Amino acid sequence: MSANKKEVLLEAHDLRTWFEIKKWGFLHVGFVRAVDGVNFKLNRGESISLVGESGCGKSSLAKTIIGINRPTDGELVFEGKSIKAVNDGDMRQYKSEVGFVQQDPYGALPPFMTIQRILEEPMIVNGIKDKAERRARLEQVMTELKLTPIVDFLDKYPHMLSGGQQQRIVIARALVLNPKLIMADEPVSMLDASVRVEILELFRKIQAKRELAIIYITHDLSTVRYFSERIWVMYGGKIVEQSPVRELLLEPAHPYTRALLAAISEPDASNIDRYKKVPPGEPPSLLNPPYGCRFHPRCEYMISGLCDQEEPPDFELAKNRLTACWLFKDKEDASDVAI
Ligand SMILES: Nc1ncnc2c1ncn2[C@@H]1O[C@H](COP(=O)(O)OP(=O)(O)OP(=O)(O)O)[C@@H](O)[C@H]1O
Ligand code: SF4
Ligand SMILES: [Mg+2]
Repeated sequence: MSANKKEVLLEAHDLRTWFEIKKWGFLHVGFVRAVDGVNFKLNRGESISLVGESGCGKSSLAKTIIGINRPTDGELVFEGKSIKAVNDGDMRQYKSEVGFVQQDPYGALPPFMTIQRILEEPMIVNGIKDKAERRARLEQVMTELKLTPIVDFLDKYPHMLSGGQQQRIVIARALVLNPKLIMADEPVSMLDASVRVEILELFRKIQAKRELAIIYITHDLSTVRYFSERIWVMYGGKIVEQSPVRELLLEPAHPYTRALLAAISEPDASNIDRYKKVPPGEPPSLLNPPYGCRFHPRCEYMISGLCDQEEPPDFELAKNRLTACWLFKDKEDASDVAI
């Protein structure tokens, strides 16, 4: 079946995930607003890269989407149904539709389980009782991930595999329930550079073939263009720019995105990891975030009395682009603001 890319798979409406901070275990100090008013629409089969400097809330958003974190407020709507209102059975169904690939493959795999057990477990938990069906699915995902000959892997334990093989097992496990969305949180950042490209290529092929939606969190802007159609830029618990990748790399709108790209002389493969050189200034405290636009203490275009007072909403630019910056109020294109 062909995925209709115009059809919305997942929506977030003013999504918030706050973590309570306590002193001496009981005294309320405040909340870390890790996800603080996130709005997006993700289409079926679409691949998104989620970028932003360390601590801006990317993993917290990922964990909220896959159901590990409970949203403090706002809602997620999956295939038209609010996740907030679902019963336990529907929640289990939702979790089976959304796979997770995390950064550290070794940490993600239970050390005392064989590969066969690791890959079968999600199917058993989700009530797939037919052994032949489990075996068929296991063979399918292992073949897709080039974990062949299959029998060479089934009785092994995670520590017997290389980092690249371990991460392919993590991806296989995420796919075994035929999800519609994969949340991939820096899936290759802990692997050797030589294996990274190979795994990302494989992942990309599987995503296209299965018409899977992917949210790919990365610090590596060099892979973004190659891996995704759209990019979301996160800052201080919010998504501040959403754009097709090409347009964003050619003509970033939000001052933070511009500074992020300027921190990398050339966003291409030779600059792997340079994105860690973030714009000057300190990232905002998520315990006491700045008033108004969270980027205003670092922004050279800050409009006094506005940016430091009122939070900018998402302004729609041409070509399917959104940006939360006052400079773009009533503008129709990123190039309308020459900064
Ligand atoms: N369970 C938690 N309890 C309290 N605070 C948390 C928890 N999880 C995350 N945080 C805080 O939320 C903020 C966002 O963290 P998060 O891990 O989402 O950032 P990130 O963008 O994924 O960073 P990185 O790029 O370093 O992985 C941080 O201040 C972090 O300390
Ligand atoms: S809203 Fe104001 S402070 Fe925020 S990014 Fe735009 S110009 Fe800078
Ligand atoms: Mg993270």
